[in-house]
Amino acid sequence: MSTIELIGVSRRYGGVTAVDKTDLQIEDGELVTLLGPSGSGKSTILSMIAGLTQPSSGHIKIGGRDVTHVRPAQRNLGIVFQSYALFPHMSVFDNIAFPLSIRGLRKTEIVKRVGKALEQVRLTGLQDRRPSQLSGGQQQRVALARALVFEPEILLLDEPMGALDRKLREEVQLELRQLQRELGVTTLLVTHDQEEALSLSTRVVVLDQGRVQQVDTPVGAYRRPANRFVAGFMGAANIFEGRITPGVGGNSMVMANGESLPCTTGDAVVGPACLVVRPEHIKVLDAAASTGLPGRVLEVVYFGQAARIHIQTDSGMPLVAISDGLESFPMPGQPVRMDWAPEHTWVMAA
Ligand SMILES: Nc1ncnc2c1ncn2[C@@H]1O[C@H](COP(=O)(O)OP(=O)(O)O)[C@@H](O)[C@H]1O
Ligand SMILES: [Mg+2]
Repeated sequence: MSTIELIGVSRRYGGVTAVDKTDLQIEDGELVTLLGPSGSGKSTILSMIAGLTQPSSGHIKIGGRDVTHVRPAQRNLGIVFQSYALFPHMSVFDNIAFPLSIRGLRKTEIVKRVGKALEQVRLTGLQDRRPSQLSGGQQQRVALARALVFEPEILLLDEPMGALDRKLREEVQLELRQLQRELGVTTLLVTHDQEEALSLSTRVVVLDQGRVQQVDTPVGAYRRPANRFVAGFMGAANIFEGRITPGVGGNSMVMANGESLPCTTGDAVVGPACLVVRPEHIKVLDAAASTGLPGRVLEVVYFGQAARIHIQTDSGMPLVAISDGLESFPMPGQPVRMDWAPEHTWVMAA
């Protein structure tokens, strides 16, 4: 049993509330990400679970046991930080063996376990090298092996891919996901990268200013954001403000300028609201089309599998659409209309 539970946990630094009355439950074997901008309290939460920072109030339980006042070494956690913090003068083998040596394991047992850890992170054969003789991705894998070598129940990772370039990051992400699933170790990963959070996690915890904004599956957080902050942080979102008015054949949102936008409202939201439309759901139509919001193309950014089309509506609002499967794209300055299916919208109370 390696569930993690935060019950009303707060952490204050002088006048700053880094983490505010947070409740959170992470189930056995999950890979949960803490996602939020810099300063939102992600590292503080991780550090309190690790026992490196004391909560100002509240309780933390691991596997049902209250560990709020238990020392870090007694919590059976593996930890990886952004800076790998490998010992530069020690070989890969000695770096990975370190947590076992300080626990006083026998030499033969250490050799066996380090060998297994090297295999898990695909570094077999590199055990005699120094960290400086490894690439960034390999160094990160050594750090991961060192965190896994004593078979912790819980793995805590604080922006572990932050120092890697994009391609390498994607590689290590995939490996981490596979390894985590294989080992079944309950994992909490801190990131400010929404793509990383969406692609890796079983659930995402979105944080802002020390407060949990939403706990959901990646799909749930992306498609059904709880509020404006989550909508904007989980990828690009077009957010319209207005009033929802029930109508025949579906609802619509009426904006301040009187323009009416198609939408559906699951929970019968009526009155002031925000309407979210993801860029991939916006269809960019010819200006002569009979439906859609009129606007003008500002910029087209082609990136291979699709293009991002920046548009300004005639009422002055900037929007972004993503179009794929087109052989040619509209030109900057070109008048267009934008339309979307009502079922591809998400309405939040304002
Ligand atoms: N040791 C500390 N002393 C004072 N303030 C801190 C300390 N650690 C974190 N904070 C503050 O707490 C807030 C949350 O920080 P942190 O948890 O590091 O955020 P994140 O990891 O999301 O970037 C920030 O405002 C930060 O300045
Ligand atoms: Mg941090």
